[in-house]
Amino acid sequence: MSPNKYRPFPPIPIQNRQWPSRTLSAAPIWCSVDLRDGNQALAVPMNVSQKLEMFDSLVKCGFKEIEVGFPSASNTEFSFNRRLIEDNRIPDDVTIQCLVQAREHLIERTVESLMGAKSVIIHMYNSTSPAQRKHVFNMTKEQIIEVAIQGANWIKERIHRLEDTGTRVMLQYSPESFSATEVEFAKEVSEAVMDVWQPTVERKMILNLPDTVEVAGPNVYADQIEWICSHIRNREALLISLHTHNDRGTGTAATELGLLAGADRVEGTLFGNGERTGNLDIVQTAMNLYMHGIDPKLNFSDMNGLIGMYERCTGMTVPPRQPYAGELVFTAFSGSHQDAIKKGLANYEKTGGSWDVPYLTIDPHDIGRKYQEVIRVNSQSGKGGVAYLLESEFGIEMPKDMQREFGPIANDLVDALGREVTAAELKAMFWKEYIERTSPYSLHHFHADGVDGVFRCRSSLVISGKEVGVAGEGNGPIAAFVQALVQDAGAPAFEVSSYREQSLSSGTEASALAFIQIKLADGRVCWGAGTDTNIELASIKAVVSAINRATA
Ligand code: KIV
Ligand code: ZN
Repeated sequence: MSPNKYRPFPPIPIQNRQWPSRTLSAAPIWCSVDLRDGNQALAVPMNVSQKLEMFDSLVKCGFKEIEVGFPSASNTEFSFNRRLIEDNRIPDDVTIQCLVQAREHLIERTVESLMGAKSVIIHMYNSTSPAQRKHVFNMTKEQIIEVAIQGANWIKERIHRLEDTGTRVMLQYSPESFSATEVEFAKEVSEAVMDVWQPTVERKMILNLPDTVEVAGPNVYADQIEWICSHIRNREALLISLHTHNDRGTGTAATELGLLAGADRVEGTLFGNGERTGNLDIVQTAMNLYMHGIDPKLNFSDMNGLIGMYERCTGMTVPPRQPYAGELVFTAFSGSHQDAIKKGLANYEKTGGSWDVPYLTIDPHDIGRKYQEVIRVNSQSGKGGVAYLLESEFGIEMPKDMQREFGPIANDLVDALGREVTAAELKAMFWKEYIERTSPYSLHHFHADGVDGVFRCRSSLVISGKEVGVAGEGNGPIAAFVQALVQDAGAPAFEVSSYREQSLSSGTEASALAFIQIKLADGRVCWGAGTDTNIELASIKAVVSAINRATA
């Protein structure tokens, strides 16, 4: 690597910049460029039926402006426009946009492709940066301006053909590679196009200012946008549009700061598909507004459905850590995070109000995700995650103290497996540790009767392979059984120090679950659990489980 091969980006001549002290309070006008910029970046571009599926899906999300393609570039692109228009597939409140270079025959073909549409945006571009002027076109600034003026005129001459047949036409100009262009020159070429198109406040034109390649930080792009907004002639007749790419990984930041700098409109794609590192991820940008309580005017409540469509149509995948959309973005493996989420969710469910759950920027339910996906267990997880999964998946509500006992046991087992475990696997671990303990004591039979608060029990146990009959007395069946175990079965002296029971609502198993904590004479405490259709028997089994664990 040799850093001196590169040079710093020159600062924008801006004084008293305003954008750093502004905040966003409303959604911009969104324009999806999935079917054009996104599509042209695919190894295998979408066919007509894939484009149709994506178009319908974009409409469903609420996009009112959709760049549907580059109709002069290929027959597929042209036929797609015809299909959309002739099949009457475009809702009345949706405007389709088409990209075209400033070349006459391409403009002509683009206009032909749009005949019969209700509302269209014709989007013309030419490159303006010094590198493009010098290496690609070998043109002076004046020649570049001339290209833009000519293209603008060719469009102007043809608009009436659309308007005369009832099409509403809006015009858009992009000085392509704007962010690498001198701001003064970008203004000059844009104003030359405005001189031809003559936008007014009533009939605005869109001036799209692309970060075609992200060549500087997002603050620099914001400076460029603010500079244009405050220097361009007739600003009120313009809709300033942002179109960022993601070469430095800050496409979203550039757009957000560009909005603070005064822009009205944003172009981007679902999940940031697009050339190289991609276009702006509109899902992320819209959801960033949403998480601050701003209505994004786009609906991503079926995120999984959207991802499915996106992957089917583009052949791309959404990475697991993609903000808001990735499989893992609401998942916590770490024990302390799980614990905090669990408490935050419980409090939110109880009190409602504004969302304030640690580690979760939004409520996963809002985009169709389930809380089950939030807490997943691997060796990094602690008691909180284990308890949460057992409770949310199987309704097992372990007492807090017992969670402290079982958490490390489960953690060691998961660690030995060296992978993530499912809730069903955790339940199997719980069953093996507590419910299925039959050694040294295995309960065969239990019966207790009480008269005047005094209970007598008779029970048979198998101890080390031998059947033994035991009997005891106490102020309840459990106390009577404890006495029988200690007096007749040779169990060490112990007392019951905590008891809880619950019913298990679903599944094929026994419907009662009892948890018992015992305290031995040496001070040790140990938990046990038992299940049965009969709650009394469930608690007796829990005592057996606890003493088995204590004497194992
Ligand atoms: O990135 C870009 O500059 C573009 C333009 C054609 C708007 O996609
Ligand atoms: Zn682009």
